[in-house]
Amino acid sequence: MASSFSSIRVFLCFSLLSFAFASNFYQDFDITWGDGRAKILNNGELLTLSLDKTSGSGFQSKNQYLFGKIDMQIKLVPGNSAGTVTAYYLSSQGPTHDEIDFEFLGNLSGDPYTLHTNVFAQGKGNREQQFHLWFDPTKDFHTYSILWNPKHIIFSVDGIPIRDFKNAESRGVAFPKNQPMRIYSSLWDAEDWATRGGLIKTDWTKAPFVASYRNFNANACVWSSGASRCGSSTTTSTTNGGASNQGWFNQELDVMSQRRLRWVQKNYMIYNYCTDFKRFPQGLPAECRMR
Ligand SMILES: *[C@@H]1O[C@H](CO)[C@@H](O)[C@H](O)[C@H]1NC(C)=O
Repeated sequence: MASSFSSIRVFLCFSLLSFAFASNFYQDFDITWGDGRAKILNNGELLTLSLDKTSGSGFQSKNQYLFGKIDMQIKLVPGNSAGTVTAYYLSSQGPTHDEIDFEFLGNLSGDPYTLHTNVFAQGKGNREQQFHLWFDPTKDFHTYSILWNPKHIIFSVDGIPIRDFKNAESRGVAFPKNQPMRIYSSLWDAEDWATRGGLIKTDWTKAPFVASYRNFNANACVWSSGASRCGSSTTTSTTNGGASNQGWFNQELDVMSQRRLRWVQKNYMIYNYCTDFKRFPQGLPAECRMR
């Protein structure tokens, strides 16, 4: 009697813990468009977006965040994904919005995806860097992370930094730090420009195209009624505590991470606005001259 009671207690404990620590798409996100093409599955553990000739689909976070370390695992549209774009980004609202973008541009089977990144501050973007990946992003889930604190916006893939956008306010460059942002993702068609600059069109006989998401984790400051509260949105353990107590809030790249960043930029970067002298004949943007 006593032992079966305690095993029930242990069981309950475990299920509460796994509820508290597993990400749950029902809890953290709303499906915003696509008329049934976006689906939350497996009790909230998995989300899929789909695209066909009629429509794409998308979702957004319930919370708004002001700084954080935000991870999502994504498995991209497999096979011939030419013309499709899977966008995963943070954005605030309004004409002077801030935005931090990952966009995955599909390709023919066997040709590499392009990972496009950008940062907008006070409505101004034009800060593209593009990469190929060192793996096939359609075979498995991989982790795409944004570390956003007052000094850095660091984009990482499977924990390897690919881009470090530094605060260059000292050079008169706006930095996203006052406007809370939501997380958005969408799968849509951009055959006019996405693949080889629009040369390769979407093959609609392969539709529906599907991208999958799991294991969302936000160690972030959640914005609510004009104040932000820092902790982890998917665990119950840290509902309180100042952001400055969180490691990520002051994090920057250590020596090892800087070496990895250089490895990615040397071997996998295919476009960098900071070296596009033709595009900026009057001089490169000021943040490009930060060391
Ligand atoms: C598609 O593959 C071609 C050929 O390898 C490559 O040049 C291009 O960057 C790839 N990505 C896109 C989005 O076109």
